[in-house]
Amino acid sequence: MAVILDGKTCSKEILEDIKKRVAKMPQKPSIAVILAGEDPASKIYVKNKEKTALELGFTSKVYRLEENVSAEELKNLILNLNRDKDTHAILLQLPLPKHLKSRDFIELIDPGKDVDGFHPINCGKLLTNSNPYAVSCTPKGVIRLLKKYNIEIQGRHAVVIGRSNMVGKPLSVLLLNENATVTMAHSKTKNLSEIAREADILISATGICGLVKKDFVKDGAVVVDVGITRDFEGKIKGDVDFEEVSKTASFITPVPGGVGPMTIAMLMENTLELCLNNAEF
Ligand code: GUN
Repeated sequence: MAVILDGKTCSKEILEDIKKRVAKMPQKPSIAVILAGEDPASKIYVKNKEKTALELGFTSKVYRLEENVSAEELKNLILNLNRDKDTHAILLQLPLPKHLKSRDFIELIDPGKDVDGFHPINCGKLLTNSNPYAVSCTPKGVIRLLKKYNIEIQGRHAVVIGRSNMVGKPLSVLLLNENATVTMAHSKTKNLSEIAREADILISATGICGLVKKDFVKDGAVVVDVGITRDFEGKIKGDVDFEEVSKTASFITPVPGGVGPMTIAMLMENTLELCLNNAEF
């Protein structure tokens, strides 16, 4: 049976450490979250982010905008937050309402306040391994969890299924920067199960429930599940058939309790780091 990669416990330790550090700071880290529209999943995510930030002693302000908010109004809010010296981190919750193109607004965020690491400057800095102001939280959390369990990355074959800007692409680059040999697979990849079976570290980030079955996984592989979907009963499920795969993998993340809690811990860590970079103590 595989060892469980316990993201819940790991994230708790990180958050406790951040809380202790913040208690000693004269100026508290502050995060501004912009939530436009009524996407139900986004509302839950934003509530959790705000609750965690406040528990750590951060200042957190959520800007709730109508579904039909104009591009001008959203643009002005971002530019005002860029100028506000009491705001260290800006998070634009995605997806945006359909009439707004997320790229246009991500590019307006000051890269030094871009807590998600989604700005092209931060993506470029990640790609060139040259100190981005922040790195996308979920991929960063995956690497942190692997390191917590002393899982070797260097020289191993990592296969990432999914090529999103938020997870698959930055995670592939992080793995490459850790000297893994990286294969990026996606919805158009032929012979997916064969390629997945070559992985020493298999990471699935597709949102397709149950995609990764036993025949995708080499004996002894490390399996990380970034997928989050809800089944017909509303239960949270991952991409990986945990029941089957956990019998042959060496390590595996559960869903929930694996990558999810690590994402929020990395968001808080990024907020703290942006504050420390910008603060005039
Ligand atoms: N929507 C789903 N996940 C994320 C995330 O990590 N950051 C932002 N900004 N929006 C999201």
